Amino acid sequence: MPHQHYLEFIERVNTPRRFQHSLGVMQVMGELAEVYALDRELAETTGLLHDAAKDISPELIEQLMQEGGIEIQYECEHDYVYYLHGPVGAYYVHKELGINDSLILDAITSHTYCGDGAHFTHPLTWCLRFADMLEPGRNWSRWAWVEAAAGELRTLVYGGKLDEAAYLLTSMLLRWFPEMGIQVHPHTRRVNQELKERLKLEASFLDEHKTLTQSRKDAESQRL
Ligand SMILES: [Fe+2]
Ligand SMILES: [Fe+2]
Repeated sequence: MPHQHYLEFIERVNTPRRFQHSLGVMQVMGELAEVYALDRELAETTGLLHDAAKDISPELIEQLMQEGGIEIQYECEHDYVYYLHGPVGAYYVHKELGINDSLILDAITSHTYCGDGAHFTHPLTWCLRFADMLEPGRNWSRWAWVEAAAGELRTLVYGGKLDEAAYLLTSMLLRWFPEMGIQVHPHTRRVNQELKERLKLEASFLDEHKTLTQSRKDAESQRL
């Protein structure tokens, strides 16, 4: 279990709803530590802390950005909710909790695909992105195809298929973010392309994972 002090800090800085999400991500990270032979406490701590800065005030965001020398690298990162809370959160837990482990800090920075840390594609970072989608409190029922794809993602993730899961997750984001009117981060596009080339599985893979290619209407009508 992560340090009690970390739990109390996150309970204080997260909204109650976000705190439940943070606990859910922590739980899934503990489960994935077993699958991917990660240090369990480190994985759980990363999950617990990943959204530390998501609910803080605009004034504190501004202060942390100045102090931490955090710069916007891509236009899309002006979106705090989907992008910038990653790097700001990493600096926040470094400052407030004394977290210095670059693996934890990189994972928090780049769970939103920001930054160019050495651990951008480390298994811990991928697990954090998976856990963020798969934690038990998530409810994707408003998005039928996302819910179906998340089910497929869960099977790959818990089956130890990290690269395939990473490809599925980034492919989901490439479709889902534009549907929600959110810009796709260039790093998401880049890693998706790299995985596609490395895995050489696109055609058959996307056939198997039809939820990605079906229109939302199709996916919804299948559920009726
Ligand atoms: Fe987040
Ligand atoms: Fe999250």
